[in-house]
Amino acid sequence: MNNVFPSQHPLVAHKLTLLRDKNTDPKTFRELIREIATLLTYEATADLPTRPKQVETPLATTQGTEVDDKIGLVPILRAGLGMVEGVWTLMPGAQVWHIGLYRDERTLRPVEYYNKLPVEPTVSLCLVLDPMLATGGSAVATVDILKRWGVRRIKFMGIIGAPEGIALMQEHHPDVPIHLAAIDERLNENGYILPGLGDAGDRQFGTG
Ligand code: PRP
Ligand code: URA
Repeated sequence: MNNVFPSQHPLVAHKLTLLRDKNTDPKTFRELIREIATLLTYEATADLPTRPKQVETPLATTQGTEVDDKIGLVPILRAGLGMVEGVWTLMPGAQVWHIGLYRDERTLRPVEYYNKLPVEPTVSLCLVLDPMLATGGSAVATVDILKRWGVRRIKFMGIIGAPEGIALMQEHHPDVPIHLAAIDERLNENGYILPGLGDAGDRQFGTG
C-alpha cells in the first residue's frame, strides 16, 4: 500500500489501546484523540519544505530554517474537530476550514451539510482530519471538495483506517498520503470498523 503510513510509534500504540477501551470516559477519550493527533502530526509533517531564515542568538547570527508552507487543517465535522487542538500544539498558526459531512445510516454515503471555504484557496497544504476512515466515502468527498477548491497538496490524517476505506481513497485519490495510528481488520455489516473504537463522534461528545 503505497502512500499509507500506519504509525510504528509505541506511544501511539499505547494511547490507541486506551482509546479503544469501551470504559474510557469522554474526557479521557478527547485527551487521547488530541495527544494521538499531535504524535501523528510529527510523523505526517516530516517532509514539509523549509526555507532558510537568519536568526540572532544572544551570541551570534546564524542560519536557521522555517517551514515554507501555508497549512490548512480541514476537520470533518463532527469527529475530526477533536484532532485540531492536537495539531495546533505543533502548528499553532495553521488555518482551520471546517467541512460538515455525516454518513447516512442506511446508504453509508456521505451527506454534505456545511462548507464555508472562500472562493480562492488560502493555503498550500491541507491536512484532512477525521479519526475514522471506514468506507472512505467521507474522506473521498472531502478531498473532492478541496481539489475543486484548488488545493494541490493534501494529506489525510486519521486514527483508525479500515482496508475498505484505504482502498477507496487510493482508487480516487492516489496522490493523497494517508497517516494513521493503525489499520484495522474490516468493516462490520453496519459499516463500523472492527475492532475499531465504536462511534468516534459519540464517544468524544458524550452523545449516543
Ligand atoms: C464518522 C467519522 C467519519 C465517517 C467515516 O462520522 O467521523 O466522518 O463516519 O465513515 P466513512 O469512511 O464510511 O465515510 P459520522 O458520519 O458518524 O458523523 P459524526 O462525526 O458527526 O458523528
Ligand atoms: N464512524 C465511526 O465513528 N466509527 C466507525 O467505526 C465507522 C464510522
